Amino acid sequence: ADVSCWYSTASTRNYKQRLPQCIIIGVRKCGTRALLEFLGVHPDVTIAQDEIHFFNQDDLYYGYGIEWYRQRMPYTYDGQVTMEKTPAYFTTREVPERIHSMDPGVRLLVIVRDPVSRLVSDYAQTLANKLARNKTCPSFESMVFESGSGRVKSYFKPVWTGLYHQHLQRWLAFFSRNQIHIVAGEQLIRDPYQELVKVERFLNLTHRFTTDQFYFNRTRGFYCMRNLTSGHCLGSSKGRKHPHVDNTLLMKLRDFYRPSNRAFFNITGMTFDWD
Ligand code: A3P
Repeated sequence: ADVSCWYSTASTRNYKQRLPQCIIIGVRKCGTRALLEFLGVHPDVTIAQDEIHFFNQDDLYYGYGIEWYRQRMPYTYDGQVTMEKTPAYFTTREVPERIHSMDPGVRLLVIVRDPVSRLVSDYAQTLANKLARNKTCPSFESMVFESGSGRVKSYFKPVWTGLYHQHLQRWLAFFSRNQIHIVAGEQLIRDPYQELVKVERFLNLTHRFTTDQFYFNRTRGFYCMRNLTSGHCLGSSKGRKHPHVDNTLLMKLRDFYRPSNRAFFNITGMTFDWD
């Protein structure tokens, strides 16, 4: 948010870089960029534009120390929330303990989406990256399913990223459930305002979101942000057309993810329409 904005409730003192009080830890391809940028519309939230990858890059950034991390953060006034997002945090084993040692009281946001759509979205991104470099990409089926048995490759990273309950369990070993807010990815697409108001409450922010800050852009097929002078949509790498995946493969994936989804619903006390 523009910190000079007249309706910010933050004090205009103490303008400096601070460690984040809230981090979007994942999940990759579930709407993490939309969530971050939409939250940045709030006058009391200031976002780090880039993914910092501090806690998940062992030899690189984490080794530089916490001061290096702080210096990657945007400037804020007293009372504003500093926020960054790095989706790789959610699935990286060492990260919960490291974030806990930075601040045991930090608040965490996890955005989720049907893990089957998430997987296809991840593949669509790989496909687009390969195409951009004039390279070919193996088929979805050969990447996700074993050739002989036809079993789902549960050990393949894009597949296990969608086992949300396993990852969340590791976070719950360090943080209490009420420090973690789960955002419904499908709902953020359909009605961003409603999901953002829930985050506003979770972060104890003054209610500043209004429905007219978001408008549906027919060409993009998604909500975009509006301020006094212009509109802003996410880049073209967000909201890609998904490649066709055979229905029998989708059904196999639904079966594969069902037990994990159930476990995730149990842990979170939430249910999603993913079956
Ligand atoms: P698809 O490209 O599969 O549609 P991430 O930012 O974590 O990579 O997530 C990308 C996903 O954000 C997109 O996946 C898209 O569905 C979702 N998304 C949610 N709200 C969006 C918005 N307003 N504009 C564009 N994409 C949005």
